[in-house]
Amino acid sequence: MSYARIAGIGSYLPEKVLTNKDLEGMMDTSDEWIRERTGIKRRHIAADDESTSSLGLEAARRAMEMAGVTADELDLIVVGTCTPDKVIPATACIIQRQLGAKRCPAVDINAACSGFIYGLDYANRYLRTGGASKALVIGVETLSRITNWEDRTTAVLFGDGAGAAVLETSDEPGIMATHIHANGEFEDLLQTQNGVSLGFDASAAAGAFIEMNGNAVFKRAVATFDSMARETVADLDGHLEDIDWFIPHQANMRIITAAAKKLGMPMERVIATVDEHANTSAASIPLAMDLAVRDGRIKRGDTLLMAAFGAGFTWGSAMLKF
Ligand SMILES: CC(C)(COP(=O)(O)OP(=O)(O)OC[C@H]1O[C@@H](n2cnc3c(N)ncnc32)[C@H](O)[C@@H]1OP(=O)(O)O)[C@@H](O)C(=O)NCCC(=O)NCCS
Repeated sequence: MSYARIAGIGSYLPEKVLTNKDLEGMMDTSDEWIRERTGIKRRHIAADDESTSSLGLEAARRAMEMAGVTADELDLIVVGTCTPDKVIPATACIIQRQLGAKRCPAVDINAACSGFIYGLDYANRYLRTGGASKALVIGVETLSRITNWEDRTTAVLFGDGAGAAVLETSDEPGIMATHIHANGEFEDLLQTQNGVSLGFDASAAAGAFIEMNGNAVFKRAVATFDSMARETVADLDGHLEDIDWFIPHQANMRIITAAAKKLGMPMERVIATVDEHANTSAASIPLAMDLAVRDGRIKRGDTLLMAAFGAGFTWGSAMLKF
Protein backbone atom coordinates (compact mmCIF):
# COMPACT_ATOMS: atom_id res chain seq x y z
CA MET A 1 0.00 0.00 0.00
CA SER A 2 1.39 3.40 -0.92
CA TYR A 3 1.24 6.60 1.07
CA ALA A 4 -0.01 10.08 0.20
CA ARG A 5 2.14 13.18 0.41
CA ILE A 6 1.42 16.86 -0.09
CA ALA A 7 3.10 17.71 -3.40
CA GLY A 8 1.89 21.30 -3.53
CA ILE A 9 0.05 23.84 -1.41
CA GLY A 10 -1.63 27.10 -2.40
CA SER A 11 -3.97 29.74 -1.09
CA TYR A 12 -5.96 32.76 -2.13
CA LEU A 13 -7.39 35.72 -0.23
CA PRO A 14 -9.83 38.25 -1.66
CA GLU A 15 -8.31 41.68 -2.17
CA LYS A 16 -10.82 43.55 -0.02
CA VAL A 17 -9.69 43.91 3.61
CA LEU A 18 -12.00 44.81 6.48
CA THR A 19 -10.12 46.06 9.54
CA ASN A 20 -11.34 46.26 13.11
CA LYS A 21 -11.45 50.03 12.65
CA ASP A 22 -13.79 49.54 9.69
CA LEU A 23 -16.03 47.41 11.92
CA GLU A 24 -16.11 50.19 14.51
CA GLY A 25 -18.00 52.22 11.92
CA MET A 26 -20.48 49.41 11.29
CA MET A 27 -21.40 48.23 14.82
CA ASP A 28 -20.88 48.91 18.52
CA THR A 29 -17.42 47.38 18.90
CA SER A 30 -13.79 48.44 19.19
CA ASP A 31 -10.46 47.43 17.77
CA GLU A 32 -9.22 46.94 21.33
CA TRP A 33 -12.08 44.57 22.31
CA ILE A 34 -11.64 42.46 19.17
CA ARG A 35 -7.86 42.21 19.50
CA GLU A 36 -7.98 41.40 23.22
CA ARG A 37 -10.70 38.74 22.96
CA THR A 38 -9.72 37.17 19.66
CA GLY A 39 -6.30 38.38 18.42
CA ILE A 40 -7.97 39.36 15.13
CA LYS A 41 -6.89 42.61 13.44
CA ARG A 42 -8.38 42.28 9.98
CA ARG A 43 -10.13 39.85 7.64
CA HIS A 44 -10.53 39.52 3.87
CA ILE A 45 -13.99 39.76 2.32
CA ALA A 46 -15.01 38.37 -1.08
CA ALA A 47 -16.12 40.98 -3.62
CA ASP A 48 -19.62 40.79 -5.09
CA ASP A 49 -18.28 39.14 -8.25
CA GLU A 50 -16.25 36.56 -6.30
CA SER A 51 -17.59 33.26 -5.03
CA THR A 52 -16.50 30.19 -3.13
CA SER A 53 -15.59 28.50 -6.42
CA SER A 54 -13.57 31.47 -7.70
CA LEU A 55 -11.56 31.65 -4.46
CA GLY A 56 -11.05 27.88 -4.43
CA LEU A 57 -10.05 27.83 -8.09
CA GLU A 58 -7.24 30.32 -7.53
CA ALA A 59 -5.90 28.44 -4.49
CA ALA A 60 -6.08 25.18 -6.47
CA ARG A 61 -4.13 26.66 -9.38
CA ARG A 62 -1.36 27.78 -7.03
CA ALA A 63 -1.16 24.37 -5.33
CA MET A 64 -1.10 22.60 -8.70
CA GLU A 65 1.66 24.88 -9.93
CA MET A 66 3.81 24.06 -6.89
CA ALA A 67 3.10 20.34 -7.35
CA GLY A 68 3.75 20.45 -11.11
CA VAL A 69 0.41 18.69 -11.60
CA THR A 70 -1.95 19.50 -14.47
CA ALA A 71 -5.75 19.33 -14.40
CA ASP A 72 -5.94 16.23 -16.59
CA GLU A 73 -3.77 14.33 -14.10
CA LEU A 74 -6.22 14.80 -11.20
CA ASP A 75 -8.09 11.66 -10.12
CA LEU A 76 -10.17 13.28 -7.38
CA ILE A 77 -11.33 16.72 -6.23
CA VAL A 78 -12.64 17.23 -2.69
CA VAL A 79 -13.86 20.62 -1.50
CA GLY A 80 -14.40 21.25 2.21
CA THR A 81 -16.88 24.09 2.53
CA CYS A 82 -20.05 25.09 4.37
CA THR A 83 -20.62 28.05 2.02
CA PRO A 84 -20.95 26.42 -1.41
CA ASP A 85 -21.75 28.55 -4.49
CA LYS A 86 -25.09 26.79 -4.91
CA VAL A 87 -27.04 23.91 -3.44
CA ILE A 88 -26.38 21.94 -6.63
CA PRO A 89 -24.06 21.20 -8.26
CA ALA A 90 -21.26 20.77 -5.75
CA THR A 91 -18.66 23.54 -5.73
CA ALA A 92 -16.11 20.79 -6.46
CA CYS A 93 -17.84 20.16 -9.82
CA ILE A 94 -17.79 23.88 -10.65
CA ILE A 95 -14.07 24.07 -9.88
CA GLN A 96 -13.47 20.84 -11.81
CA ARG A 97 -15.02 22.37 -14.95
CA GLN A 98 -13.09 25.62 -14.53
CA LEU A 99 -9.83 23.71 -14.12
CA GLY A 100 -10.62 21.51 -17.12
CA ALA A 101 -10.25 18.32 -15.07
CA LYS A 102 -12.66 16.42 -17.26
CA ARG A 103 -13.65 13.14 -15.69
CA CYS A 104 -12.42 12.76 -12.14
CA PRO A 105 -14.91 12.46 -9.26
CA ALA A 106 -15.59 15.77 -7.53
CA VAL A 107 -17.44 16.18 -4.25
CA ASP A 108 -18.07 18.68 -1.46
CA ILE A 109 -17.76 17.85 2.22
CA ASN A 110 -19.54 20.01 4.78
CA ALA A 111 -17.74 19.53 8.07
CA ALA A 112 -17.68 23.29 8.77
CA CYS A 113 -14.27 24.37 10.10
CA SER A 114 -12.99 20.78 9.98
CA GLY A 115 -13.71 20.54 6.24
CA PHE A 116 -10.11 20.54 5.07
CA ILE A 117 -9.06 17.82 7.55
CA TYR A 118 -12.10 15.73 6.56
CA GLY A 119 -11.08 16.23 2.91
CA LEU A 120 -7.51 15.23 3.65
CA ASP A 121 -8.71 12.10 5.43
CA TYR A 122 -11.01 11.19 2.52
CA ALA A 123 -8.37 11.75 -0.18
CA ASN A 124 -5.69 9.99 1.85
CA ARG A 125 -7.83 6.86 1.96
CA TYR A 126 -8.32 6.97 -1.85
CA LEU A 127 -4.60 7.32 -2.48
CA ARG A 128 -3.58 4.67 0.03
CA THR A 129 -5.94 2.08 -1.44
CA GLY A 130 -5.18 2.72 -5.11
CA GLY A 131 -8.40 4.60 -5.91
CA ALA A 132 -6.49 7.68 -7.00
CA SER A 133 -2.90 8.74 -7.47
CA LYS A 134 -3.35 12.50 -7.54
CA ALA A 135 -5.99 14.38 -5.58
CA LEU A 136 -6.86 18.01 -5.05
CA VAL A 137 -8.18 18.92 -1.58
CA ILE A 138 -9.53 22.44 -1.14
CA GLY A 139 -10.77 24.24 1.97
CA VAL A 140 -12.69 27.36 1.00
CA GLU A 141 -15.31 29.66 2.47
CA THR A 142 -17.20 32.87 1.86
CA LEU A 143 -18.44 33.14 5.45
CA SER A 144 -19.15 36.85 4.90
CA ARG A 145 -22.26 35.71 3.00
CA ILE A 146 -23.74 34.03 6.10
CA THR A 147 -22.49 36.61 8.61
CA ASN A 148 -25.04 38.80 10.36
CA TRP A 149 -23.33 42.21 10.12
CA GLU A 150 -25.66 43.49 12.83
CA ASP A 151 -24.53 40.91 15.39
CA ARG A 152 -21.27 42.08 16.94
CA THR A 153 -20.83 38.83 18.85
CA THR A 154 -20.20 36.91 15.61
CA ALA A 155 -19.51 39.44 12.82
CA VAL A 156 -16.06 40.36 14.11
CA LEU A 157 -14.86 36.75 14.03
CA PHE A 158 -15.09 35.57 10.43
CA GLY A 159 -13.41 36.09 7.06
CA ASP A 160 -13.23 34.68 3.54
CA GLY A 161 -10.40 32.74 1.91
CA ALA A 162 -9.21 29.53 0.30
CA GLY A 163 -6.42 27.01 0.70
CA ALA A 164 -5.64 23.92 -1.37
CA ALA A 165 -3.30 20.96 -1.36
CA VAL A 166 -2.37 18.53 -4.13
CA LEU A 167 -1.79 15.03 -2.80
CA GLU A 168 0.09 12.38 -4.71
CA THR A 169 1.03 8.80 -3.96
CA SER A 170 4.45 8.21 -2.50
CA ASP A 171 6.55 5.30 -1.25
CA GLU A 172 7.03 7.00 2.10
CA PRO A 173 4.69 9.09 4.26
CA GLY A 174 3.52 11.85 3.66
CA ILE A 175 0.42 11.64 5.69
CA MET A 176 1.14 9.47 8.72
CA ALA A 177 -2.25 9.61 10.43
CA THR A 178 -5.62 11.27 10.24
CA HIS A 179 -8.45 11.12 12.78
CA ILE A 180 -11.86 12.64 12.26
CA HIS A 181 -14.81 12.82 14.64
CA ALA A 182 -18.23 14.39 15.12
CA ASN A 183 -20.80 14.81 17.86
CA GLY A 184 -24.13 16.20 16.68
CA GLU A 185 -25.35 16.81 20.22
CA PHE A 186 -23.90 20.32 20.04
CA GLU A 187 -25.86 21.47 16.98
CA ASP A 188 -27.39 24.42 18.85
CA LEU A 189 -24.11 25.97 19.97
CA LEU A 190 -22.92 26.96 16.49
CA GLN A 191 -25.35 26.96 13.59
CA THR A 192 -27.52 28.69 11.05
CA GLN A 193 -31.13 28.02 11.97
CA ASN A 194 -32.35 27.57 8.42
CA GLY A 195 -30.83 26.80 5.06
CA VAL A 196 -32.48 24.51 2.58
CA SER A 197 -35.19 22.13 3.79
CA LEU A 198 -35.85 24.28 6.86
CA GLY A 199 -36.29 27.39 4.71
CA PHE A 200 -34.60 29.30 1.92
CA ASP A 201 -35.09 32.84 3.23
CA ALA A 202 -31.55 34.28 3.28
CA SER A 203 -32.08 36.85 6.03
CA ALA A 204 -30.94 37.18 9.62
CA ALA A 205 -34.56 37.24 10.79
CA ALA A 206 -35.17 33.88 9.14
CA GLY A 207 -32.08 32.39 10.77
CA ALA A 208 -29.88 32.12 7.70
CA PHE A 209 -26.81 33.59 9.38
CA ILE A 210 -24.28 32.19 11.83
CA GLU A 211 -25.40 32.06 15.46
CA MET A 212 -23.11 30.95 18.22
CA ASN A 213 -22.79 30.49 21.96
CA GLY A 214 -19.23 31.84 22.04
CA ASN A 215 -18.37 30.87 25.62
CA ALA A 216 -19.51 27.26 25.30
CA VAL A 217 -17.76 26.83 21.94
CA PHE A 218 -14.57 28.32 23.34
CA LYS A 219 -14.35 25.84 26.25
CA ARG A 220 -15.16 22.84 24.09
CA ALA A 221 -12.64 23.88 21.42
CA VAL A 222 -9.72 24.14 23.84
CA ALA A 223 -10.42 20.76 25.44
CA THR A 224 -10.87 19.09 22.06
CA PHE A 225 -7.66 20.47 20.54
CA ASP A 226 -5.74 18.98 23.43
CA SER A 227 -7.33 15.53 23.30
CA MET A 228 -7.20 15.13 19.53
CA ALA A 229 -3.59 16.23 19.24
CA ARG A 230 -2.61 13.69 21.87
CA GLU A 231 -4.70 10.97 20.18
CA THR A 232 -2.94 11.44 16.84
CA VAL A 233 0.57 11.62 18.22
CA ALA A 234 0.03 8.62 20.54
CA ASP A 235 -1.40 6.58 17.67
CA LEU A 236 2.01 6.81 16.00
CA ASP A 237 3.89 6.04 19.23
CA GLY A 238 5.25 9.53 18.78
CA HIS A 239 5.83 12.46 21.07
CA LEU A 240 4.74 16.05 20.84
CA GLU A 241 8.44 16.98 20.70
CA ASP A 242 8.57 15.24 17.28
CA ILE A 243 6.30 17.93 15.86
CA ASP A 244 8.10 20.74 14.05
CA TRP A 245 4.96 22.77 13.43
CA PHE A 246 1.48 22.78 14.97
CA ILE A 247 -1.12 24.22 12.58
CA PRO A 248 -4.41 24.59 14.44
CA HIS A 249 -7.66 25.83 12.96
CA GLN A 250 -7.52 29.62 13.21
CA ALA A 251 -10.63 30.55 15.20
CA ASN A 252 -9.32 32.74 17.98
CA MET A 253 -5.79 33.49 19.23
CA ARG A 254 -6.87 32.75 22.81
CA ILE A 255 -8.04 29.26 21.79
CA ILE A 256 -4.77 28.67 19.91
CA THR A 257 -2.63 29.87 22.83
CA ALA A 258 -4.61 27.86 25.38
CA ALA A 259 -4.42 24.70 23.25
CA ALA A 260 -0.67 25.13 22.67
CA LYS A 261 -0.10 25.69 26.38
CA LYS A 262 -2.07 22.56 27.34
CA LEU A 263 0.00 20.58 24.84
CA GLY A 264 3.26 22.10 26.06
CA MET A 265 3.88 23.29 22.51
CA PRO A 266 6.00 26.48 22.42
CA MET A 267 4.35 29.28 20.43
CA GLU A 268 7.47 29.48 18.21
CA ARG A 269 6.33 26.16 16.72
CA VAL A 270 2.70 27.21 16.22
CA ILE A 271 1.52 28.73 12.93
CA ALA A 272 -0.98 31.50 13.66
CA THR A 273 -2.60 33.66 11.00
CA VAL A 274 -5.87 34.48 12.75
CA ASP A 275 -4.69 38.08 13.29
CA GLU A 276 -4.61 38.68 9.54
CA HIS A 277 -7.36 36.36 8.28
CA ALA A 278 -9.83 35.91 11.18
CA ASN A 279 -11.71 32.59 11.12
CA THR A 280 -11.96 31.32 7.54
CA SER A 281 -13.41 27.96 8.61
CA ALA A 282 -12.35 25.11 6.27
CA ALA A 283 -9.80 27.39 4.57
CA SER A 284 -7.86 28.33 7.68
CA ILE A 285 -5.44 25.39 7.97
CA PRO A 286 -4.30 25.17 4.32
CA LEU A 287 -4.12 28.99 4.21
CA ALA A 288 -1.88 29.04 7.28
CA MET A 289 0.25 26.20 5.96
CA ASP A 290 0.69 27.85 2.57
CA LEU A 291 1.84 31.10 4.14
CA ALA A 292 4.38 29.34 6.34
CA VAL A 293 5.69 27.24 3.44
CA ARG A 294 6.08 30.27 1.19
CA ASP A 295 7.77 32.41 3.87
CA GLY A 296 10.28 29.59 4.48
CA ARG A 297 9.26 28.52 8.00
CA ILE A 298 7.89 25.10 6.98
CA LYS A 299 10.43 23.13 4.98
CA ARG A 300 10.31 19.83 3.10
CA GLY A 301 10.73 16.98 5.60
CA ASP A 302 9.22 18.91 8.53
CA THR A 303 6.64 17.09 10.64
CA LEU A 304 3.32 18.90 10.89
CA LEU A 305 0.36 18.41 13.20
CA MET A 306 -2.90 19.91 11.99
CA ALA A 307 -6.01 20.09 14.17
CA ALA A 308 -9.44 21.50 13.44
CA PHE A 309 -12.67 22.02 15.33
CA GLY A 310 -15.98 23.32 14.06
CA ALA A 311 -19.75 23.34 13.93
CA GLY A 312 -21.41 19.97 14.35
CA PHE A 313 -19.34 19.64 16.42
CA THR A 314 -16.80 18.13 14.07
CA TRP A 315 -13.13 17.80 14.78
CA GLY A 316 -10.13 16.15 13.23
CA SER A 317 -6.38 16.05 13.06
CA ALA A 318 -3.65 15.02 10.67
CA MET A 319 0.02 14.35 11.21
CA LEU A 320 2.27 14.41 8.18
CA LYS A 321 5.74 14.93 6.83
CA PHE A 322 5.76 17.74 4.30
C1 LIG B 1 -16.86 35.15 20.88
C2 LIG B 1 -15.82 35.40 21.95
C3 LIG B 1 -14.65 36.15 21.37
C4 LIG B 1 -16.44 36.24 23.05
O1 LIG B 1 -15.49 36.46 24.06
P1 LIG B 1 -15.90 36.33 25.59
O2 LIG B 1 -14.73 36.68 26.40
O3 LIG B 1 -16.49 34.95 25.75
O4 LIG B 1 -16.98 37.47 25.72
P2 LIG B 1 -18.50 37.35 26.19
O5 LIG B 1 -19.31 36.59 25.19
O6 LIG B 1 -18.47 36.85 27.61
O7 LIG B 1 -18.92 38.85 26.13
C5 LIG B 1 -18.38 39.79 27.01
C6 LIG B 1 -19.02 41.14 26.76
O8 LIG B 1 -18.55 41.68 25.50
C7 LIG B 1 -19.66 42.03 24.69
N1 LIG B 1 -19.30 41.82 23.30
C8 LIG B 1 -19.50 40.73 22.54
N2 LIG B 1 -19.03 40.96 21.31
C9 LIG B 1 -18.50 42.18 21.29
C10 LIG B 1 -17.85 42.96 20.32
N3 LIG B 1 -17.63 42.50 19.08
N4 LIG B 1 -17.41 44.17 20.67
C11 LIG B 1 -17.61 44.67 21.89
N5 LIG B 1 -18.22 43.98 22.87
C12 LIG B 1 -18.67 42.75 22.58
C13 LIG B 1 -20.77 41.14 25.14
O9 LIG B 1 -22.02 41.69 24.80
C14 LIG B 1 -20.54 41.08 26.63
O10 LIG B 1 -21.06 42.23 27.20
P3 LIG B 1 -21.87 42.15 28.58
O11 LIG B 1 -20.90 41.60 29.58
O12 LIG B 1 -22.29 43.56 28.81
O13 LIG B 1 -23.01 41.22 28.32
C15 LIG B 1 -15.33 34.07 22.55
O14 LIG B 1 -16.34 33.46 23.30
C16 LIG B 1 -14.89 33.09 21.49
O15 LIG B 1 -13.92 33.32 20.81
N6 LIG B 1 -15.57 31.93 21.38
C17 LIG B 1 -15.22 30.93 20.40
C18 LIG B 1 -15.72 31.38 19.08
C19 LIG B 1 -15.16 30.57 17.96
O16 LIG B 1 -14.00 30.57 17.77
N7 LIG B 1 -16.03 29.93 17.23
C20 LIG B 1 -15.69 29.18 16.08
C21 LIG B 1 -15.16 27.86 16.48
S1 LIG B 1 -14.79 26.97 15.04
